Amino acid sequence: MLSKEDNERLTRVGEGTPMGNVFRRYWLPVLLSSELAEADGAPVRVRLLGEDLIAFRDTSGAVGLMEAYCAHRRAPLFLGRNEKSGLRCVYHGWKYDRGGKCVEMPTEPCDSTLKTKIALKAYPTWEGGGLVWACLGPSAAPPPDFEFIRAPATHRFVSRTVQDCNYLQALEGGLDSSHATILHNVTIGDMNWLDDFERTTPRLEIYPTDYGFQYSGIRNLKDRYWVRLYQYVMPAMQLRGRIVPVRGEKAPPRIPLISGHIWVPIDDVTVSVINFSYSADPKIPLDMDFALDSEADYGRGSEDMLPDFRLKKNLSNDFLIDRELQKTGTFSGIRGINTQDVAVQEGMGPIVDRSKEHLGSTDRAIIVLRRLLLEAYRTVEAGGTPKGVDPSSYRNVRAVDHYADTESAIPQLIERERKARF
Ligand code: FES
Ligand SMILES: [Fe+2]
Repeated sequence: MLSKEDNERLTRVGEGTPMGNVFRRYWLPVLLSSELAEADGAPVRVRLLGEDLIAFRDTSGAVGLMEAYCAHRRAPLFLGRNEKSGLRCVYHGWKYDRGGKCVEMPTEPCDSTLKTKIALKAYPTWEGGGLVWACLGPSAAPPPDFEFIRAPATHRFVSRTVQDCNYLQALEGGLDSSHATILHNVTIGDMNWLDDFERTTPRLEIYPTDYGFQYSGIRNLKDRYWVRLYQYVMPAMQLRGRIVPVRGEKAPPRIPLISGHIWVPIDDVTVSVINFSYSADPKIPLDMDFALDSEADYGRGSEDMLPDFRLKKNLSNDFLIDRELQKTGTFSGIRGINTQDVAVQEGMGPIVDRSKEHLGSTDRAIIVLRRLLLEAYRTVEAGGTPKGVDPSSYRNVRAVDHYADTESAIPQLIERERKARF
């Protein structure tokens, strides 16, 4: 449960709001680089932290990100011509470089100095990991340095989805590992749907770190231990390990894969989710067919998406819940793991009222998350730097999904496997 005041503090992201100020201290992934495929190509609308912006790749290949409306009489720059090293408004031809500076004003006399006084609000951008990042703060932090950014393109897959709900309920859904065996259960059959393996309650431990926290789930499988270590990196990123079969192999050997999400608030009631995965072994490139198949399994393959990155199965059609399937096949009756998550998160309403919740013992990660975000707001308010802004705090960590033969081998295994290798 959360007070109404804290719920407001945690969920509002516009300029001048507590969490808006926190998010403005970090680099946030705004677009897939592929959305701005070519120099001088079509500009793309961006809405970020409640601000309407326009992004364009200029002649040099660098990305500009600035106010969406022209400084003259506010025509939409989305209609603009992406010309040599700048974006020109189609209404009266004022042209802006990627820093937002007005560089041409064809409607003014040649000797006019008006253009030297005109600039649109523009934000610094940075590209890495197949993503365009931006920092909306008063001063830009050092660029992000996650392991998936350093991994070569051959080892990495990145996608994006958009959800119609506040960022926090989506982020909380990601950190809430206890729902996996219920919401995502597929073997309902005889109603004995929690088999022995899943019935083994994981031992959950949370450790605070300089970038957020890490939490482990350790299951005793009798003949060995299944060790999972997740990472939460502030303000809104999660890393998970995943052991996957090498394509074509039915049984081990298996290769480790690391996946994750970054939840980026578009505004108070919309969130853009960056989904990424990468091979944890520098010697083995990611199997891109496997990555695409996984996206489809999750329910966010190209067939499942609308052009605006929303799902075709959505709130307006009740995510095509199949009540017959729910009786006899899967627990939720909704197809696709990601679709199931979105159904629950969007179904809560645009901004869930957390003063009405009743949290249980499996909600510890969510409680710590909220505490850290509130702490970050107080730090920023006092003029300090919140956790996770400094890339050196997280650059060497990764998530873990491994088996240990004995309990005593677990600490060593975690120590060894949580270190980045790219
Ligand atoms: S509104 Fe853009 S040039 Fe006039
Ligand atoms: Fe889930």
